[in-house]
Amino acid sequence: MIQMKNKLFTLQTTNTTYQMKVDQYDVLLHTYYGSRIDDSDLSYTIQSVDRGFSGNPYGVVERSYSLDTIPQEYTTFGTGDYRSSCLQVMNSDGSHDCELRYVKHEVYQGKKTLEGMPSIYGTEQEVETLEVTLKDEISNVEVILSYSVFETLDIIARSVKVINGADKQLKLQKVLSCCVDFHIANDFDMISFYGRHSYERAVERTPVRHGKLVVDSVRGASSHHQNPFVILCDHQATETTGNCYGFSFVYSGNFIAQTEVDQANQTRFVMGIHPTAFEFLLEPGDSFTTPEVVMSYSEHGLGQLSRNYHKVYRHHLCRGKYKTARRPILINNWEATYFDFDDKKLVKIAEDAAKLGIEMLVMDDGWFGNRFDDNRALGDWFVNEEKLKGGLSSLCERVNALGMKLGIWFEPEMISEDSDLYRAHPDWVLRTNGRKGTLSRNQFVLDMSRKDVEDYLFEAISKILDSANIEYVKWDMNRHLSNVWSAKLPPERQGEVYHRYVLGLYSLLERLTTKYEDVLFEGCSGGGGRFDPAMLAYSPQIWCSDNTDAIDRINIQYGTSFGYPISAVGSHVSACPNHQTRRSTPLHTRGVVAMSGTFGYELDINQMTEEEKEIVKEQTATFKRYYDLISDGDYYRLTNPFDNHYYAAWEFVAQDQSKALLNFVLLKPQSNPQIINIKLQGLDKEAKYCINDQTYSGQALMKAGFSVPVMYGDYTAAQFEIVKIS
Ligand code: GLA
Repeated sequence: MIQMKNKLFTLQTTNTTYQMKVDQYDVLLHTYYGSRIDDSDLSYTIQSVDRGFSGNPYGVVERSYSLDTIPQEYTTFGTGDYRSSCLQVMNSDGSHDCELRYVKHEVYQGKKTLEGMPSIYGTEQEVETLEVTLKDEISNVEVILSYSVFETLDIIARSVKVINGADKQLKLQKVLSCCVDFHIANDFDMISFYGRHSYERAVERTPVRHGKLVVDSVRGASSHHQNPFVILCDHQATETTGNCYGFSFVYSGNFIAQTEVDQANQTRFVMGIHPTAFEFLLEPGDSFTTPEVVMSYSEHGLGQLSRNYHKVYRHHLCRGKYKTARRPILINNWEATYFDFDDKKLVKIAEDAAKLGIEMLVMDDGWFGNRFDDNRALGDWFVNEEKLKGGLSSLCERVNALGMKLGIWFEPEMISEDSDLYRAHPDWVLRTNGRKGTLSRNQFVLDMSRKDVEDYLFEAISKILDSANIEYVKWDMNRHLSNVWSAKLPPERQGEVYHRYVLGLYSLLERLTTKYEDVLFEGCSGGGGRFDPAMLAYSPQIWCSDNTDAIDRINIQYGTSFGYPISAVGSHVSACPNHQTRRSTPLHTRGVVAMSGTFGYELDINQMTEEEKEIVKEQTATFKRYYDLISDGDYYRLTNPFDNHYYAAWEFVAQDQSKALLNFVLLKPQSNPQIINIKLQGLDKEAKYCINDQTYSGQALMKAGFSVPVMYGDYTAAQFEIVKIS
């Protein structure tokens, strides 16, 4: 609900309030974000003091009034606010001035889509939008701030549109999507999710401090190294208590998330496209729209904050058939064969898999061009008939005849020097004029800002998808951008290439996912290197990590769960010893961990013993039985694997609280062991539940806890089904 009183705008969700106000100088102030309160004017909380060296806009008489100290909704560089700015322009005369003042506002039911970029969506009943227009009187630059309020979800989505109203060119040097000035609640920790290839989204919690704290990527992709999701919370906040604010950026390219604690101990948070190497030229009348930031707040700790994101991304971001349809349990041949496969080997894997309840075979890297290893052939998207005798349609028919679907791997954004595509179009490579460029995995990146490149990929991929009954695409991206320069753009537009790359990618994905609406797309970037909300709009699942070690995956999936739904987490059972860590874990444990995600296999099933195959059969049946609970239930992190090295536990609870599933892994067995008691969450406290034929009250399970039977052995795991009986 959006309440308005004399240019006071109060955005209400079920449990949160966000407020802004136009002041006497037409500056749009930020007055509050936090627990739900009424629509009282909260600008009384802003106390201005003359701090010295914090200047005053011309015409303002009070020396205490300075843009350098008051909380604002959208800040510009160059006119006296020395803190982090959201907008930096260069006017045609070379100046940076842009003084934004309120002009008008509009409120409407529903939410507009963003031009060329994914965003969350809702019906007119589900979401209401406020647009506030600000303007610089001298340059006629206009800025429209948009706030879409999803009341029942405690979600507010923000984006910004900049319009060049001048009759001369305007250069944008920085346009961020969101600023929140916390002038009252400001003693925060920042939680961010760092990592590297094969170890993504480790959780790091740091107190914010005077000066700036930055989480970012300039790799051209959201990256394994930092994720475009951060949380600001009380120092004392836990899974179940404390104030927590989430900021999630629906974008797959360079980003920045930054806190700044100022001279008055106020915290400013900003987020958006990274300004490094960014410039965007606007001709008179042109506009630029930013990607959106999805904000949420919980006064009941981190668990609730995560569940807010799980709901909004599951129901208001993911699209297409597989938003709701059950996704097939798949077997991927990558760790089974790497490049060493042919059609016979694949069909043999499919034959065994089909008998065990697995529903789809995914043919990974190596089926095209001259791709016998990872040094060549990217770009040559035609079938290697030496490997696949009879071509794709023959393979597909044989796999389909077993009752299995067939999926296929692509890495569309890439090009190998040793490829027909490179020989035909060396100028399609993203690299600086006249230089050799930087190789990574011995490959270059295609210039996705070019329409001809996008069209080529659309045709090449369509041709493959049309040639057989392909029902799944794994969309990979195995290096980051460097030497970013496009042969298609003039020098003054080279600062647009990083962003245009992302727009080209989105455009291609939009065209393909619309044309092949029944095909399941899975995102991937060397595992979870592009695990961001924007990619979820095209692919409802993303391969979470190239690290398939079940014990490492507990940490990786734990970190991922803070900002992303379990239904998005690509997770497979792989062979032992594990190929990345050489660790051995029981097959049952690998199943329990992989089930907290999309579930599948990534091993040579033909090498398994009969006993192991029986376990696989049980696992696929168990996953199908729990599918709804896992993919659509509420998720509770019960332990933090970064702190608790003894055991890990997590829980799914059905939306109607009729059922739950407790997952448990013993990380380090003890002799003469300490008893493990786990307090469950999310149950109906008035109800009775049954676990292993024993009855408990919901309240008892949540307050006194559940005592886990004593277990021994390396990485032993268990699942406990909790069923409501009355
Ligand atoms: C990336 C992916 C893997 C696999 C390989 C193939 O690393 O994350 O799953 O597809 O590429 O080259």
